[in-house]
Amino acid sequence: MRISSVIIIGTGLAGSQVAAQLISLSKVKGVGVDKITMISKGSMQDCNSDLAQGGVAVALNEPDADSHFSDTLTAGNSLSDQKTTRILVDEGVEVVKDMIEQGLEVDRDSQGKIELGLEGAHSKKRILHLGGDQSGHIMLQFVQQQSRGQVTVLENSFVSEILVDGNQAYGVRILDETDQESILMADFIILASGGCGQLYTPNANSLMISGDGFAVAKRAGAMLERMSFVQFHPTLLNLAQNDPKCLVSEAIRGEGGVLVNSNGVEYMNGVHPLKSLAPRDVVARENFKQIASGRSIYLDVSNVEGFKTRFPSINSTLEKLHFDVDINKLIPVIPGAHFFIGGVATDEWGKTSVNKLYACGEVASTRVHGSNRLASNSLLECLVFGKRVALDILTALASAPEAKSRSTSLVLTAQRNEVLRPAPRQSSADVAGLNLPELHELQVRAFDSIGIIRERERVLEFVKWLAQYSRNQIVRNRDAMQLENMVELALLISADFLK
Ligand code: SIN
Repeated sequence: MRISSVIIIGTGLAGSQVAAQLISLSKVKGVGVDKITMISKGSMQDCNSDLAQGGVAVALNEPDADSHFSDTLTAGNSLSDQKTTRILVDEGVEVVKDMIEQGLEVDRDSQGKIELGLEGAHSKKRILHLGGDQSGHIMLQFVQQQSRGQVTVLENSFVSEILVDGNQAYGVRILDETDQESILMADFIILASGGCGQLYTPNANSLMISGDGFAVAKRAGAMLERMSFVQFHPTLLNLAQNDPKCLVSEAIRGEGGVLVNSNGVEYMNGVHPLKSLAPRDVVARENFKQIASGRSIYLDVSNVEGFKTRFPSINSTLEKLHFDVDINKLIPVIPGAHFFIGGVATDEWGKTSVNKLYACGEVASTRVHGSNRLASNSLLECLVFGKRVALDILTALASAPEAKSRSTSLVLTAQRNEVLRPAPRQSSADVAGLNLPELHELQVRAFDSIGIIRERERVLEFVKWLAQYSRNQIVRNRDAMQLENMVELALLISADFLK
């Protein structure tokens, strides 16, 4: 009998959706995966999906799909792939409706009607929210619940390599929290490791998100594309004690928040017809320029009704920092790194250029976001393309000849349906003595050179600085490897910009 196995690198919404759909679609397809192993660098919740405030853009009100499609293309500066964007918008409706039918609790008005919000560059209200500004967290819990007890989860495990034989992926090399190596093999490998916000400061990402997925995919021979397409969010909370920075959702501008500078000027009015709700790249650039000209910038929430109940998560962060929006209506903000648009090139089924290696979520480039992602399209991308990856794997299994699976070569000791939860890594391993940059310096230089505003000369200087750090040093540990991955990613972003 054939035993099939899948490894999913990443436990955010994309990876969790693949796992959930492999399980639920197997009932429909009559073929299933015997062993699903999910790997997380931190805990299962340490991911950007869990932090997502904005929501899910979805054309629930017919006939909105065409307008969602065209808003996506316009925000993306017409660089989106029309085929995958159509899939995103059209299939997104069914995927989200199914989840609501299965019990996903979305925000509703007092009559029980689903409430839809507005964000930058959307021509109408179509953003679904969950728990106000806790959309990502609630959605992730819901999707992870669907595979709970049916998958093995390896937490605090760092994937240092995707193993390939010729052009076919067959496993991963993992370092545990004490840098002990193991090898895990499977029939299919799914990369869903997220983006790279930690390459920059400031950023609004989880501390785990440092671009390792791009580096391991590249070393496995996968094609990467659009590597200079990084999205910067216009509004990260800028209170001195708030480090790392957290997001101040664009949904607040959808509810009447406006950007003002320290001279009290609503500066976006002269920049774009949509003013504070202009596409994200336009607002982030203008915010950067305001700050570079010596002004501070604020989100004025005077006209946002019921701020504290509508945005409970942001409000709780503000309260912890002794900032009361009832007293002070001007929330200090700055722009910062938020989302990686380019990445591992995939087709419309999440297949990469390496056989048996799929990618989905932020690490993948499905080309739906053009050069500037439309707000709240990323959770939808995880749901739609995560489902497609699962469908493609089950279709492949249904037509595969009986064969011995790679999973029989499992080297790790994890048992089925178990969460292996070793203690989180306590302190940084020693990277001193290695030829690596200091993390903060790398982040500052990355933001200056390959950040919101880029100039050729500066990028060339940055590349020269990066070139002094070489790979393949003898001492290997997770912290060193992560820094090496970040240097590699910085070079990839720079090279794509310079070409
Ligand atoms: C936000 O809440 O402003 C972020 C939404 C997104 O990144 O799509």
